[in-house]
Amino acid sequence: MDILNNVDHEAERYNRADELKAFDDTKLGVKGLVDAGVTKIPKIFVRPHDELAEELNYGKVNLQVPVIDLSGNDHRMEIVAQIREASETWGFFQVINHDIPTSLLEETIDCIRMFHEQESEVKMKLYSRERMNKVRFDSNIDLYQSRAANWRDTLTISMVVGDLDPNEVPAVCRETMLEYIKEVTKLGGSLLELLSEALNVEPNYLQDMGCAHGRIFACQYYPPCPEPELTLGASKHTDAAFLTLLLQDQIGGLQVRHRDQWADVPPIAGALVVNIGDLLQIVSNDKFKSVNHRVLANHNGPRMSLASFFKGVAVPPKVYGPINDGSPPVYKDFLVSDYMKHFFTRSIDKSGLDYYKL
Ligand code: OGA
Ligand code: NI
Repeated sequence: MDILNNVDHEAERYNRADELKAFDDTKLGVKGLVDAGVTKIPKIFVRPHDELAEELNYGKVNLQVPVIDLSGNDHRMEIVAQIREASETWGFFQVINHDIPTSLLEETIDCIRMFHEQESEVKMKLYSRERMNKVRFDSNIDLYQSRAANWRDTLTISMVVGDLDPNEVPAVCRETMLEYIKEVTKLGGSLLELLSEALNVEPNYLQDMGCAHGRIFACQYYPPCPEPELTLGASKHTDAAFLTLLLQDQIGGLQVRHRDQWADVPPIAGALVVNIGDLLQIVSNDKFKSVNHRVLANHNGPRMSLASFFKGVAVPPKVYGPINDGSPPVYKDFLVSDYMKHFFTRSIDKSGLDYYKL
């Protein structure tokens, strides 16, 4: 019986590899499946039994991710204190009155939709798993490593190595996307100042380290899902970056791990979600937390979001390590490129932080 089970298991694993490849080869992503009219999700997307069973035991916390009002300079100390508290406890907060016009946020969401819903041929030409491509479209960055594929597609715009030639940005979203990139980069700079102050170092400390130098913009598209209880929009993960600024539309589904339970990060019109990434957890010497989060799949949709990752300097190599806060360092020094190599050769639900623990 054991042998039979093993044989079945092997056969299943074999099929899975074939099915992943077949899905990848369509170059149409999850939206391609939905357009083809699937009413059941293909097996490669179904979460393993142990995960689905575990889900039944999860409670939900009704606590709210902190919302921080950035307007006004007269209470800067108070803003810094709120950011410190949120970064130490939740690793997540939402910001309002951040100076990016709500109209630009709405246009950005619209143009993400326009990219993903345009003619298939244009998207297929951009379909690639080559991480050195500055602009690429794909589905499931960890397709061949994860236990179950996620119900989402991604347009990635990378400014990690050198500048971006504006003409490389797909025409359907070029103008708005470049404007958003400019604005969110400015906001990222302001937040890095506030976070520096929250760490009791000079306001320009994190900026001077080049935290905002390399940036990746992940334009996510979560198509409506016929069986949302069996899969996820994005598996639980922490972000392999210093800082992430997330723009989400009004559908909802983002959850963050807090006190061993999942808490919703409800959409707030005009707000942006900010979260601490792995690299800032290391640099803050464990003071700030890079926290697991995920996105539920949904009958409703599509859901759009844009994650702006601030990744630091990868080229030429620059050594980063914990700031000296008077206590012994918790982590080894690291190169951004090495950290990324660890992250991108695994399933996204495996953080690289432990590897760097002293
Ligand atoms: C991410 C992420 C959340 C979302 O891209 O890393 O966590 O709401 N995205 O799309
Ligand atoms: Ni994330």
